[in-house]
Amino acid sequence: MKAFLEELVNQHRPSVGEGKLADYIPQLSEQDPTALGISVRTCDGEVYSAGDCPERFTMQSISKVITLILALMDRGGEAVFERVGMEPTGDPFNSIYKLEQAPGKPLNPMINAGALVVSSLIKGSTVEERVGRVLSLVRRMAENPKIELDHAVYYSERATGFRNRSMAYFLKEFGMIEDVEATLELYFQQCSIAINCDDLAQMGLCLARLGQNDAGEQVIPRELARLVKTFMVTCGMYNASGEFAILAGIPAKSGVSGGILASVPERMGIGVFGPALDEKGNSVGGVRLLKGLSRELNLSIF
Ligand code: DON
Repeated sequence: MKAFLEELVNQHRPSVGEGKLADYIPQLSEQDPTALGISVRTCDGEVYSAGDCPERFTMQSISKVITLILALMDRGGEAVFERVGMEPTGDPFNSIYKLEQAPGKPLNPMINAGALVVSSLIKGSTVEERVGRVLSLVRRMAENPKIELDHAVYYSERATGFRNRSMAYFLKEFGMIEDVEATLELYFQQCSIAINCDDLAQMGLCLARLGQNDAGEQVIPRELARLVKTFMVTCGMYNASGEFAILAGIPAKSGVSGGILASVPERMGIGVFGPALDEKGNSVGGVRLLKGLSRELNLSIF
């Protein structure tokens, strides 16, 4: 398996030249555009990795999966889905224009507008407490208590996140978000949680085992593990979700740092890193690795 993964990384490494680093968050443009790596953790306890995976990179949109779980644990499905929908958009992750067509209710929790609403629902009396609760869930799912925020990336996004600010204020006008500034602080900080490929693979494994950790404890409720994997299939790769479902068939969530969290039910968790992105904001090399892995190991859930 290790040799197979190395071969897969080597095969797809040239494709990273087709992508570009995200630079709208200035700090992300300092990543190595040639990096490509993968970690796999199976339900049988096997652990493999190949290629190059830095010690840490930020979760970015992958954090949307975690905040959705936490908001649902805090408020229940009815309260959450009153404010955010369940449908794919076919639009870019940071698109603002459908907010006006379906007033105030973002189409799903995986796009930025929906994730802002979801973050606003996370309980806690201060931003610090709410960020702490998100971080704690990430640590428990990844089984790594050392996970922390990358403050340089947080400040970088906070200083330049004009579109997210616009969306949050737009959502406030429709009564979908109450405390805009606290929500933005929480959102920028959750995006800057720093993890590595192993952490992502372990988190994917937790979802693959319907929310259980290595010790068999239920970290998140079974039905929420199922629900977020469904969102990952339908919306996790944004407006490339349909093609990814057909060609890989694996629940996955990408982030603009180049990470992808993937989970194959009852089989394995996968963490991928490749910061060169395609025009839809997904890792060019990472997507190819997952498609190749799925084909070779027959991982499609369909
Ligand atoms: O809100 C943003 O624009 C970023 N913090 C996260 C976007 C993201 O990761 C989209 N993923 N492909």
